[in-house]
Amino acid sequence: MADKLLKMDDEDVKRAYARWAPVYDKTFGKVADAGRMAAVECINQFDGSVLEVGVGTGMSLPHYKTSLEITGIDLSVDMLDIARKRVKDQKLCHVAAIEEMDAGDMAIEDNAFETVVAMYVMTVVPDPMQVMKELARVCKVGGEVIVVNHFSQKHGLRGLAEKAMARFGDKLGWRPEFPVETILVCDDLQVIETVSLRPFGLFTMMRFKKVDLAKSNVICDEDEVKNTKAGLRVA
Ligand SMILES: C[S@@+](CC[C@H](N)C(=O)[O-])C[C@H]1O[C@@H](n2cnc3c(N)ncnc32)[C@H](O)[C@@H]1O
Repeated sequence: MADKLLKMDDEDVKRAYARWAPVYDKTFGKVADAGRMAAVECINQFDGSVLEVGVGTGMSLPHYKTSLEITGIDLSVDMLDIARKRVKDQKLCHVAAIEEMDAGDMAIEDNAFETVVAMYVMTVVPDPMQVMKELARVCKVGGEVIVVNHFSQKHGLRGLAEKAMARFGDKLGWRPEFPVETILVCDDLQVIETVSLRPFGLFTMMRFKKVDLAKSNVICDEDEVKNTKAGLRVA
């Protein structure tokens, strides 16, 4: 799967978002509002700490309920500067930290956050599979990982358009061709809800619950246990 994805590196991303940052909120940022609001509405039903990965210019930050404790990380200093200004100007006291950090290698301990969310990020990061593993790692067992993203179609007009746009991915700063299977790489993340979002179902919100594999697995009869590598099977 990784080989089929457009190769982008950290420098491509930083260059692309240095160009996007000044106009982001009024262009893609606006188009992406419905998905952002759907995720925030969902998260506002939870309590505790939230890690927003790829927080960008921080468009979501004013919309979280103030009893949550939000940490935002991003690779682009140009996007982060705008997020920090927003936090300061709007006195967003529920934002605990805004940090420059690579989502593929986060300086965050395991099981640190109740909720981890990545909105419009997975198509952009250089290594989406590695980022997905990081999202799972820093989420507490029983917590949720929420991903809002565009997933490409294999067929139809949209599939053709996505294929045609794919070659401009490094200029766009995201991958038009991005099958959903790319992010289904973590055994400890169970899909609990998939929601197709406006406009035109172009974006999807996926909610995953982090499970403790050792506890959620059912040990079956002795023969079966011997026949499985880890002595466990997924329930
Ligand atoms: C399309 S923007 C989405 C911003 C924000 N989530 C929103 O809803 O508006 C994608 C963001 O992901 C960030 N990003 C890309 N690769 C990253 C990485 N490896 N680590 C952290 N952030 C990354 C970009 O810098 C950019 O701010």
